[in-house]
Amino acid sequence: MGKLKSKYAIVTGGGKGIGESIVNRFLKDGIAGIAVLEYDLNMAKEMISRLDNSGAKVLLIQCDVSNEKQVEIAVSQAMEHFGTIDILVNNAGITQDSMFHKMSEEAWDAVINVNLKGAYYLCKHVIPIMRNKAIGKIVNISSISAFGNVGQANYATSKAGLIGFSKTLAKEGGPKNIIVNCVAPGYIETDMYKTVPKEIMDEHIKNTPLGRLGKPNEIASVVSFLSSDDASFLSGQCIIVSGAATT
Ligand code: CAA
Repeated sequence: MGKLKSKYAIVTGGGKGIGESIVNRFLKDGIAGIAVLEYDLNMAKEMISRLDNSGAKVLLIQCDVSNEKQVEIAVSQAMEHFGTIDILVNNAGITQDSMFHKMSEEAWDAVINVNLKGAYYLCKHVIPIMRNKAIGKIVNISSISAFGNVGQANYATSKAGLIGFSKTLAKEGGPKNIIVNCVAPGYIETDMYKTVPKEIMDEHIKNTPLGRLGKPNEIASVVSFLSSDDASFLSGQCIIVSGAATT
C-alpha cells in the first residue's frame, strides 16, 4: 500500500513547484492525509484540481507561515481533521534576490521570516505533538544556496540556518524518536528558478555535472524516503540533491 500508509503530514508551500511534487509523491506513497499550508489559496486550489483521485486526502489551509497565529490555527485544524501529525515538511520559501550592497532590510526580513522563522513556528507548534507520541519525522527544505550564492545573501542565510536548526532538532529530538533532516536542492525547474537571468542559468547548468536542471519530483522522492520508516536511523543530515553541483 505504500511506504507512507497510515501517516498524516503537514507540507508548507504545497501549492506548486517542489511542494506540489511532494504532495503528489506522498499520495503516490499511500499517505493517509496531508494538510497543505499555502499562502496563495487560488494557486493551491488549482494544484488540488490537478491531483488525480486523491484530492479527498488533502486538507487545504490558507496560512502565511511567517505569522505565528496563522500557523497555530493551521496546526490545530490539521489536528482536528487528522487527529495526529506524523510528518512535517517545511518547504515554504521565497526569494528576493539582489546583490547584498543593494539589498533592503525589508528584503532581508521578508526572506528570513518566511524561510527560517516559518520553519521555527511550524516546529514550535508541531514538535510538542510529536514529543507526546514519541515519534515524528521532520524534513526541512534547504538549498544549495545555503553554501553561498551571489545575489542571495538573505536566502542563503535562511537556508543555511535551516541546516543548523535541523541538526540541533535532530539531537534534541532523538530521545523522543523525532527524526529531523534537511534536503538541499540544487537548481530545479520551478517558477522560482525562472527569475534567474539566462546567462546565470547557463552557468548553473555548466556547473552541474549531470548537465541539466533537476526536476521537482527528483526532490520529492528524497523527501518521501526521509519521511518514511525506510529512514529510521537517518537523522541530523543535510542531503544535497543537486546533480553533483556545488555553488
Ligand atoms: N559574481 C561576482 N559579481 C557579480 C556576479 C557574480 N556571479 N554577478 C553579478 N556581479 C556583479 C556585476 O558585475 C555588477 O558589478 P558592478 O556593480 O560593479 O557593475 C554587480 O554585481 C551587479 O550586477 P547586476 O547589474 O547584474 O545586478 P542586478 O542588480 O541587475 O542583478 C542579481 C543581480 C539579482 C543577483 C542577478 O544577477 C540574479 O538574479 N542572479 C541570480 C541569483 C540566483 O542564482 N538565484 C537563484 C534563484 S532559484 C533559487 O533560489 C532556488 C534555489 O534554492 C537554488
